[in-house]
Amino acid sequence: MTGIESDVFRSVLGHFPTGVTAVTAVNNGKPIGMAIGSFTSVSLDPPLVAFLPGKDSGSWKEIRESGSFCVNVMGQDQMDVCGVMASRAEDKFADVAWIPASTGSPIIEGSIAFIDCQIEDIHDAGDHDIVVGRVVDLKVMESKSPLVFFQGNYGTFG
Ligand SMILES: Cc1cc2nc3c(=O)[nH]c(=O)nc-3n(C[C@H](O)[C@H](O)[C@H](O)COP(=O)(O)O)c2cc1C
Repeated sequence: MTGIESDVFRSVLGHFPTGVTAVTAVNNGKPIGMAIGSFTSVSLDPPLVAFLPGKDSGSWKEIRESGSFCVNVMGQDQMDVCGVMASRAEDKFADVAWIPASTGSPIIEGSIAFIDCQIEDIHDAGDHDIVVGRVVDLKVMESKSPLVFFQGNYGTFG
């Protein structure tokens, strides 16, 4: 990295706390998912959100092919689901219960909320992409303590 050491970059950016989501899709009949901290609200009118997947992610390649995705907001009690979604397991949904959102993308059982989207735009950003989604459906499923990620550890709020 020019001028900036990667461990310094990681350490400093790790001091910014994030919520934790699982971004899901179905591609060729197979459920796909990845843990994502880089989720953000973008625009109210039109309704847009965004997340930033790494270009080397196999899950992102499949989500991209599907043309849509569903953001699942993880609760404090979903650390195990998040661990599976962050892994490179072949079938991340082997032990995860879900129902299809309107795009067909998985709504994971026990999630706080879901935001179902069509992919609107993909912007190039170094070793990641910035994926903008147009929201087609969204709902709070269960109001409970969120899963939070800070300095490489899980925690919660409140
Ligand atoms: C709390 C947390 C947040 C994460 N946020 C992101 C993210 O914003 N972007 C990303 O590309 N990967 C993120 N990851 C890592 C991916 O979930 C992981 O690299 C990916 O799922 C690996 O498998 P895949 O290549 O099959 O998708 C995060 C992992 C964790 C545990």
